[in-house]
Amino acid sequence: MTEEKSSAFRARLIGVAGNSATMEVLDGEARSSDELVFCGSAQTRKVLSLREYNGHTMAELDSPVEAQVGEIVARSVERPEYVDQFEAKIFWMSEREMLPGRSYSLICAGQSVDATISKLKYKVEESSGKHIAANSIAQDETFIANLSLDRNIAFDPGSTRLETSRFELRSGDSKILARGEIRHSLRRASNVHWQALAVDKIARSKLKNQTPKIIWLTGLSASGKSTIANIIEKKLLAMGKHAYLLDGDNVRHGLNKDLGFTAADRVENIRRIAETSKLMLDAGLIVIASFISPFRAERRMARSLFEEGEFIEVHVDASLALCEERDPKGLYKKVRRGAITNFTGFDSPYDRPEKPEIRIDTETVSAEEAASRIIDYL
Ligand code: ADX
Repeated sequence: MTEEKSSAFRARLIGVAGNSATMEVLDGEARSSDELVFCGSAQTRKVLSLREYNGHTMAELDSPVEAQVGEIVARSVERPEYVDQFEAKIFWMSEREMLPGRSYSLICAGQSVDATISKLKYKVEESSGKHIAANSIAQDETFIANLSLDRNIAFDPGSTRLETSRFELRSGDSKILARGEIRHSLRRASNVHWQALAVDKIARSKLKNQTPKIIWLTGLSASGKSTIANIIEKKLLAMGKHAYLLDGDNVRHGLNKDLGFTAADRVENIRRIAETSKLMLDAGLIVIASFISPFRAERRMARSLFEEGEFIEVHVDASLALCEERDPKGLYKKVRRGAITNFTGFDSPYDRPEKPEIRIDTETVSAEEAASRIIDYL
């Protein structure tokens, strides 16, 4: 009980109007004369008075504050940590596979951010507490991993009592996948600051006389992606545009030669390609990415790296039967012989795009015409 009383003050901001801030108290309590910090906006304000209002605490501050609803509020002398990487203990509740590199929603004390499990360290055996080396996690297993978030959040590591040290991981469709507790922050990243370069994307693309875009072709193996992608690149070149084609078969010989075709490797394949495309786009190029990219979650992640209107998803659509009939590399024959496993459309899934910017039915549209349509769209 004494511990309960001495706990640090933690609250979630639920409203601001001029000098007053309304907070949902998560731990401890505020006192008048406290100096509070609004963690997200890093502003500090003195409390002049406090009162209860509808079960919440309303503070009158010494001056107006421009903070966002959802920020964590604390006493400025006992701030929570505020970083975007930490180590955590995680209990995996879902029957879905845990995939390092996939983007999940992390919710901690009402703060919601995109998070990826950047490194699986080891499993913890429930009964003995023993550490077991692992590269995959099944339902109801506990493990230790590093997490990387897409922005800083406020949290209190290592104190399971506090709401600010516990979190949930959810999938894109809001299902709870796991619960975890933050063990400690990883500060290595805090000295790496993104360089604000004077020469920017706009300057570089102006010089090339074009608007950088990413044309993301997705579809089954042998659906026609590479053929269409090659024609697009040639047409753009003929128009004096600067384009670059990233293709499954060439990227897998270099940058991604360490990756195979398990679900986890495909997630990592697409993550690296999406990040590479982003750099190329920043250089002012028109990027054509041609990968099966079978999972909706990774296509969504790739899209989220770009600005509105930059990412053009093209579904190169063909039935599995037609792809098998074409079989330019003889891979489908090998699948039938049992010589290849984890093959898309057979024992590895393909999530059809729900709302691509363009859908090409390659059963009725020629590759030439498909490429022209995509260029017209640009
Ligand atoms: S992705 O699923 O990770 O996006 P990617 O487009 O890079 O795949 O690579 C797909 C190419 O690898 C296919 O066109 C095919 O030539 C080859 N390949 C080899 N094994 C497989 C497999 N098991 N599943 C799919 N494609 C495979």
